[in-house]
This record gives sequence, structure tokens and C-alpha cells, in this order.
Amino acid sequence: MADLSIHFAGIKAPNPFWLASAPPTDKAYNVVRAFEAGWGGVVWKTLGEDPPPVNVSSRYSAHFGKNREVIGFNNIELITDRSLEINLREITQVKKDWPDRAMIVSLMYPCDEASWKRILPLVEATGADGIELNFGCPHGMPERGMGAAVGQVPEYVEMITRWCKQYCSLPVIVKLTPNITDIRVPARAALAGGADAVSLINTINSITSIDLEQMVARPIVGHQSTHGGYCGSAVKPIALNMVAEIARDPATRGLPLSGIGGIGNWRDAAEFIALGAGSVQVCTAAMLHGFRIVHEMKDGLSRWMDTQGYASIADFCGKAVPQTTDWKYLDMNYQVIAHINQDACIQCGRCYVACEDTSHQSIAQLITAENGRRYEVKAEECVGCNLCQITCPVEGCISMVPQDSGKPYMNWTQDPRNPRADLQSQS
Ligand SMILES: Cc1cc2nc3c(=O)[nH]c(=O)nc-3n(C[C@H](O)[C@H](O)[C@H](O)COP(=O)(O)O)c2cc1C
Ligand code: SF4
Ligand code: SF4
Repeated sequence: MADLSIHFAGIKAPNPFWLASAPPTDKAYNVVRAFEAGWGGVVWKTLGEDPPPVNVSSRYSAHFGKNREVIGFNNIELITDRSLEINLREITQVKKDWPDRAMIVSLMYPCDEASWKRILPLVEATGADGIELNFGCPHGMPERGMGAAVGQVPEYVEMITRWCKQYCSLPVIVKLTPNITDIRVPARAALAGGADAVSLINTINSITSIDLEQMVARPIVGHQSTHGGYCGSAVKPIALNMVAEIARDPATRGLPLSGIGGIGNWRDAAEFIALGAGSVQVCTAAMLHGFRIVHEMKDGLSRWMDTQGYASIADFCGKAVPQTTDWKYLDMNYQVIAHINQDACIQCGRCYVACEDTSHQSIAQLITAENGRRYEVKAEECVGCNLCQITCPVEGCISMVPQDSGKPYMNWTQDPRNPRADLQSQS
């Protein structure tokens, strides 16, 4: 049986599944129930200066799929709206009662050294295992000079991280905002400031939809709205790429990463871990489905690890990083061709329409002797773009078959067709 326990940036947890700083972690009642359900740790809902901020009503909206499944989730909530004293008291008690679980305290304070110097000893006194710096909240707090307003300025990221390392002995995790052009820049700044780890992503600036009767975006507050933070399944690809960018960057390689963004099952978690995350954090999936989802996550991950022969999380952490490269290093001689399994095909014609209208006109629509339809790939025309496979409603019906070109690996920097080959670095 695989060992799911982790040792992340000096913080121990019985499994890599942590609840991200958000409503699921905003009070002892929730956190205790989460620990009872089996979560390995929590990042407590972000604490800030008293008096705590006041939230508006309503606060959430969603981007729905055709069957009303929530593809993406959006919120305009602020940091904790409970007093610092109550939060610190509850954190102390919960950590005392659950010593084996990771207790990380998320913090957001102004860019002023005295504020950090004041709060850090109070947090350390709770017995918490680490702190996470919320440099990512994209709404409300940036207007007050905090959250994403800090995360978008590498100098501030480095400066505050340094203060935290100076005034507190706990591991410091810097939570990054994705609302930035190059995620590697704040990650490097966090490392320069002495961060023990970075976590990402926080939410993405977004408007999920417009109420066309009222002519106002959602979520609606009176007759107005504002942009919110996007999260949930839809942001997973963005988060995975940002995690990979930091894992691949020679300047930050080896820096512990806590992966966040759209994680809803064990497979999502395994993907983040494969790209270098040593722990994973979940918010939206827990908000939509409750704390019990952690059962499937732990069970599924451990079963999959057993089938792969991975005894611990460290055994496959970062295993997909070396294969994640720049476009110019991809093999120009590699070729796949679509193949349709006629026994599985239901003759819906979607692949034909997709390839005919927008790809390479590589699927033939034939009329059979029985006046039925049959779809066949024209192998010599197919460029192996995957579009037909993606459009096909029958899983496994279209497969992409690698061809043996007989040619060796050759990337774009080596390709004679590259007019600037001499200017590009050789791999
Ligand atoms: C309602 C709500 C409130 C949140 N509040 C915080 C917060 O106080 N501090 C923080 O660092 N992140 C906050 N987040 C962001 C989450 O911690 C997480 O980074 C983000 O939701 C992406 O993860 P997910 O796709 O699993 O939801 C909040 C998210 C939601 C949905
Ligand atoms: S892989 Fe692309 S080019 Fe080939 S048949 Fe499918 S859609 Fe057409
Ligand atoms: S999309 Fe799939 S099921 Fe539909 S015709 Fe093409 S191969 Fe057959």
C-alpha cells in the first residue's frame, strides 16, 4: 500500500490533500469536520488586520456547462470577516486537537514592516506549522494595496517574504497570483526573499456571465457587479502550466510547490504532483461536493500509485517535468495519423465536419452499399492534429497511431527548413 504522507517544505502531513484558504477553512467547525473526513491539512482562511473586512451579498457566480455542471466558479469575497482574536484562538485549539495534520495560516497585511512584525509572533504562538502569504486575492483587497496588488510587484513579494523570514521561524509559503504575464518572475522574487515554497494559483480575474434582463454581470449586488476571482475545473490547465513553468525554470528548480487550481479528484492531484507539486490544495470541489471527496482522492491516488509501483509521493513528484519542454525542442520527425475503429463508430459524422471545415479535409464520407455512411481517414492527408479524436463522442473510437518515419529525432533548432536555425541554440 502506497505511503501518502508528505514532508513539504518542513511541514509534515499524513496525505498531500490540503484545503486551500477559503470558506472551507474559515472556522474551527469546518476545519474539524474536514480533518474528520481525512484531509491532510488546511490553509486557514486569510487573516488580516482588525477590524475585519465586510463582505457583500451576493458573492458567487458560476460558468455552467450544458448539463448545468459547474465548469468554473467565481467569487467576490474578501479575506476573513471574523476577528483576529477568534481566529487565532480557534487555530490554536484545532492544531492542539489534530497535531498530525498540517495547519498553515494564510496572511494578508499591508506593505508595512511593523504590521508583519506585530502579527507574525501571534501566529507562531498558535502552534501552526507554517504561513502562507496571500499575494493573490484579485478583488477588493488590491484596492487597499494588498493581495494581487503585492503579487504583481516582484519587489514587494521579495520584501514581505524577507520580513516574514526575519520575524518568524515557521516555513513561509508564498501564494502567487496568476493575474500576471510571467509567473516565473514573482516565483523568483519569493525565492530571493527566502521563501520555503510557493503555492499557486490564486483566482483569475473574471466575469462569468451577464444577466441580460438586468444588464448586469453576476454575481449581482443591488444593481451592480464587479469582476471576481475564477477557480474550479476550468482553471486547471492554466494552473498546471504555471506550476510547470516554475518547476522547469533553472532559477527556481527544486523550490517546493503546492499545486492549486481546479483539483477535484485523485487524477487531477496526480497530474499536479507529476509536474512537481509536493502538496495539492482544493477549494471549489470541496465547496461544491463537500469534504467527503477526499476519500476518493486518497483511495484513488494510493491505488494508482500501487499499480505504477510508486511507494511514496516523492517517487513520482516532478516525473513529467523533464518531458515538458519548449516548442522548439519537439521532434519534427514524429508523426501520428488518426485511425477510426469502424466497429465502435456510430456514424455521427462529427469528425468529418470538423476535419472538412476547419482542419485538413482528411476524412472521407462514403456511402455504403446499404445506403449507410462510413467515415475513413485519408492517411496521406492527415497531419495528426487530434481534432477528430477530440470531437468524437465515442471514447476510444478514434485513436492516434504513431507512424514509423524511420527518421531520427530532429528539433526545430536542427531543422534545415528553419531559416533562423543558426540563431537558435542547439539542444
Ligand atoms: C469563495 C472563495 C474565497 C477564497 N478566499 C481566499 C482567501 O481568503 N485566501 C486565499 O489565499 N485564497 C482564497 N481563495 C482562492 C482559493 O484558495 C484557491 O486558490 C482558488 O479557489 C483555486 O483553487 P480551486 O480551483 O480548487 O478553487 C478563495 C476562493 C474562493 C472560491
Ligand atoms: S487528425 Fe486532424 S487532420 Fe487527421 S483526420 Fe483527424 S482532424 Fe483530420
Ligand atoms: S465522430 Fe467518431 S463516432 Fe462520429 S463518425 Fe467520426 S469516428 Fe464515428
